[in-house]
Amino acid sequence: MQQNNNRAQFATRLGVIATTVGSAVGLGNIWRFPYEAGTHGGGAFLIAYLCFIFIFGIPILCAEFMIGRHTRSNIFGAFRQLKPTGHWHHVGYIGIVASMMILSFYSVVAGWTMEYLYQSVTGGLLLASPSDFDKQFVSFSTSNWRPLMWTLIFLSVNFLIVIRGVQKGIEKMSNIMMPILFVILLIFCVNSLFMPGAADGLKFLFSPDFSKLDSQVLLGAMGQAFFSLSLGLGTMLTYGSYFSNRTHIVRSATTTALLDTSVAILAGIIIFPAVFSFGISPAQGPALVFEILPNIFNQLPYSVVWSTLFFFLLFIASLSSTISMSEVTIAFFTEEKKMSRKKATIVNTAIAMVFGSICALSFGILGDFTICGHTVFSLFDYVSSNILLPLGGMLISFFAGWLLDRDIIRQQLTNKGAFKVYTYKAIIFSLKFIAPTGILLVFLSSLNLI
Ligand code: PHE
Repeated sequence: MQQNNNRAQFATRLGVIATTVGSAVGLGNIWRFPYEAGTHGGGAFLIAYLCFIFIFGIPILCAEFMIGRHTRSNIFGAFRQLKPTGHWHHVGYIGIVASMMILSFYSVVAGWTMEYLYQSVTGGLLLASPSDFDKQFVSFSTSNWRPLMWTLIFLSVNFLIVIRGVQKGIEKMSNIMMPILFVILLIFCVNSLFMPGAADGLKFLFSPDFSKLDSQVLLGAMGQAFFSLSLGLGTMLTYGSYFSNRTHIVRSATTTALLDTSVAILAGIIIFPAVFSFGISPAQGPALVFEILPNIFNQLPYSVVWSTLFFFLLFIASLSSTISMSEVTIAFFTEEKKMSRKKATIVNTAIAMVFGSICALSFGILGDFTICGHTVFSLFDYVSSNILLPLGGMLISFFAGWLLDRDIIRQQLTNKGAFKVYTYKAIIFSLKFIAPTGILLVFLSSLNLI
């Protein structure tokens, strides 16, 4: 069955973790998590998010890894191989649409990161008060050409890396950058804990007010869990297809989820004390982190060094995430449509440049162009994270729980019996019952149907 034995494989165990964590950790943790938690009431959101990560996320991550490694294929090829007569490979289309939508709006925010990196280096972030940073962000994000330019530059950098193939570019960079990012986040975290408003910020994040837990908070938390783990669109399935036969799937999934979640929580501990200390509303939306962080850096000695280092690392973290989402579309074009890697990368980048430009202008000239009350940027964000990824995840877990041959699951999860997996039954139980029904219930309640 394993047709593509000559596909690239990750060289080392560290390579596997660094690459899956490289995909998972990115703007989702540092930009999206604080803003979603801020708009959805803090603690209640965090609890729901953690439940989704551990009860749905880890089992579905295992499902993607095992389907990928067993079939050694992209999401389309995988389902076609496992159920040649069914319609299951159409799940792949959800993945393609989601990855193109995410790549488009994500590149805009990655572009903001590049602007802030540029501002750090040139001393443009040495402003005086929180309101100056607020004005600076608004004037930049509404200025049209600069956000547009950075979006296109970011996509070009992504292009140049993706075109070189999986192993070389990604593995080396993630191996070095991710640990540095983690350490610097820890340093900022300690700094935030000593701020005057720290207690209020921590209370906001960690003490849940369950009266806030409505269906929109649940939908947002579920979307954030899928987005943050790069789950439901076939990214992790594609990465699983590059795993060697010795990779421990359950351990890799758990490590990835734990590291990813720690980065999100660290970001929360950095941001919320500062939010309360500077007297800014936590419900700022997408601007939150870009208005808060420069304030934090400004209070530190050698602020230029800290902010430059931070925005550089955030840029790299974004890049390792966009590389992984590009891989979904590129594996589809090369393996299913028999395109060359070069052509596939060009098509992927061209589509993202068109939609990315529209997203970039959503804060400026296209700000009044709304669909169901959303700008194109916020629509892409909402639809991909809150709807498409959980929908893909629901189908993948249903497939793995009910239709995938039990022998395949056992062989994949235990590496043909090489070790015992203590959570084996719990994973199967979640894939069969909890994850698919849970996701369905959240969908139904958000539509006010239950
Ligand atoms: N998980 C990434 C982040 O948190 C975003 C992502 C989503 C990457 C989907 C790949 C696929 O930034």
